[in-house]
Amino acid sequence: MIDEILSIVKNHEKWRGKQCLNLIPSENVMSPAVRRLLSSEFGNRYTARDRFYMGTRFTDEIEQCGEKLARKLFKAESADLRPLSGHIADLIVLANCAKRGDTLMCLSPEDGGYPGMWKEGLAGLLGLKPVAFPFSKKDRNIAAQKAEEAIRRVKPRIVVFGGSLITFPHPVKELAKLARDHGAFVGFDGSHVMGLIAGGQFQDPLREGAYALFGSTHKSFFGPQGGIILADKEHGELLQSKIYPAFVDNAHWNRIAALTLALAEMKSFGKPYAKQIVRNSQALAKALHDYGFPVECEHLGFTKSHQVIVDYGDYEKGRNVAEKLQQANIITDCVIRIGTCEVTRRGMKEREMLRIAELLKRTAIDGEQPNGIRKEVAKLMVDFQKTEYCFES
Ligand SMILES: Cc1ncc(COP(=O)(O)O)c(C=O)c1O
Repeated sequence: MIDEILSIVKNHEKWRGKQCLNLIPSENVMSPAVRRLLSSEFGNRYTARDRFYMGTRFTDEIEQCGEKLARKLFKAESADLRPLSGHIADLIVLANCAKRGDTLMCLSPEDGGYPGMWKEGLAGLLGLKPVAFPFSKKDRNIAAQKAEEAIRRVKPRIVVFGGSLITFPHPVKELAKLARDHGAFVGFDGSHVMGLIAGGQFQDPLREGAYALFGSTHKSFFGPQGGIILADKEHGELLQSKIYPAFVDNAHWNRIAALTLALAEMKSFGKPYAKQIVRNSQALAKALHDYGFPVECEHLGFTKSHQVIVDYGDYEKGRNVAEKLQQANIITDCVIRIGTCEVTRRGMKEREMLRIAELLKRTAIDGEQPNGIRKEVAKLMVDFQKTEYCFES
């Protein structure tokens, strides 16, 4: 049995870790040091806010150290690292900043909103009425002027910017004040763009009028899988007081130790990392467009984030292409969103983006047999096994 278990893990590590070109924008790689902390002794330990458990001296220290770093990095008055995932961070915010029957304005999943926040997800669970932001598909963004009218008309109790398909900064600056004046809590689900925000790219929701920025720590942010909530003093204090015991009991301190180190890495290396991500996305998008892929938003320069959206207009078509790519060990999702955060962290630059575009074209457009492409992908990956933008080489 043990051989079977170890061999599954080994096979996975060899395939996805070494042989594949990983282009899913929700994924990234941790540095070796962060991975090491993820398996540290903290992973065996318990704490509780009511001080039920003894032996928490260093657990408390690591939490304080991590929160302090997060507050500095995001220029936030409050930070909490306990949410176990981006979804749980969303849950904590929605459950405490709105009540049953309230209206939630956010992106519809049809427009790239997070399905977990919509009717079948948290809005349904918490009895909130989701209303979609007016959206411009052409510009892949919230239609700011129409959204102004919608906020005046609907007076949502809670407004959440951010989403799962996100290539351009959302109009927080333009809409947050109006929403707040109409009595809304304004938040930004930064699950996808947290690393770009930390690196000073994309946008700065807490300065643009959002009370809280929350979401995952493992997409464009290169920490362990988990969640984070950053907020102003008033809302931060409220949210922090509600987390235990309703939303998180024990908080997985190995993850928090690892996240703390990732925060330190981001503080030291986040700027060049985030800049290179955007450069890579733009280079990849242009090359794909030139090959004839239906890349969105040419008129806006394609993208300003870690995502490039190749719009086949229908999910089945996207799935078909994604399956072909998978046979060549090129891993994407079915939308198709192509993510540049992982390859950037592996050290790839614009030159490699051109190579990636060529491999995608030969697989998806020319219909070349996957065997040969697989070999070329593996060869490309040999030179990019290290993790960049971290303390050790
Ligand atoms: C916008 C957005 N919010 C929240 C989540 C959930 O994050 P997690 O997977 O960390 O729970 C996702 C997941 O992809 C997402 O795209």
